Amino acid sequence: MNKAKRAAVIAGNWKMNKTPAEAKALLEEIIPLVADAKCEVVACVPYVDLQIALETAAGTNVKIGAENVHWAEKGAFTGEISAPMLVAMGVPYVIIGHSERRSYFGETDETVAQRVRAAIDAGLKVILCVGEYLEQRKEGVTMEIVRKQVKVALGGVSAEELKNIIIAYEPVWAIGTGLTATDDQAAEVNHAIRELLAELYSREVADATTIQYGGSMNAANAEGLLSKEDVDGGLIGGASLKPADFAAIVKAASK
Ligand code: 13P
Repeated sequence: MNKAKRAAVIAGNWKMNKTPAEAKALLEEIIPLVADAKCEVVACVPYVDLQIALETAAGTNVKIGAENVHWAEKGAFTGEISAPMLVAMGVPYVIIGHSERRSYFGETDETVAQRVRAAIDAGLKVILCVGEYLEQRKEGVTMEIVRKQVKVALGGVSAEELKNIIIAYEPVWAIGTGLTATDDQAAEVNHAIRELLAELYSREVADATTIQYGGSMNAANAEGLLSKEDVDGGLIGGASLKPADFAAIVKAASK
């Protein structure tokens, strides 16, 4: 089975939640619950929580990520954080192109591509988010939108560099809404992304790339979604803040 060719990755996206003290407490609850995971486990946390999160997760199987990164190495970009800064802290992962960044902070496919370039050059592992709005799904252009997002973001990314990129399909209408894509809807788009990777790179590269689903994934629906051939893990928002729920998702991905 091709699924065996790639790593299953369950990543939490804490979004703008948790102070450093709260982050430490939450990780201390999560860590023992996922200690025997047979998949990669990541917690992406606010910038101010990174240091305490790295310290708390040191020596465990939980990896830490940031939720965004700027494309420049340094300079006059007030309020921004660069990829070399994250690497210097010891942060291994970063989310790029989340729909909340696209919707609220002017993120475009082009700036996503610039951020991906900077992150890869610095040695970070990227969780690249793509996904359509509800109107786009209704208009029947989901595949075109997602293909464009992936294609632009990966412009200039080599097959070797793609090994450090996870793609997360997150339909915007399913994020934080309690509306989940059906198992088949998630599988269909994830499959289309893999076919695009086969076109852009090769079948071997496509089969080796981890493609997650995200959008109201929870303890109850994770197993069905993760049972699909092209769904290699999840990017979890709300449920990643609930240790038992997050652990249940990790367990579902460990089967
Ligand atoms: P929810 O799981 O809260 O829907 O959020 C998904 C998400 O945006 C993860 O990046």
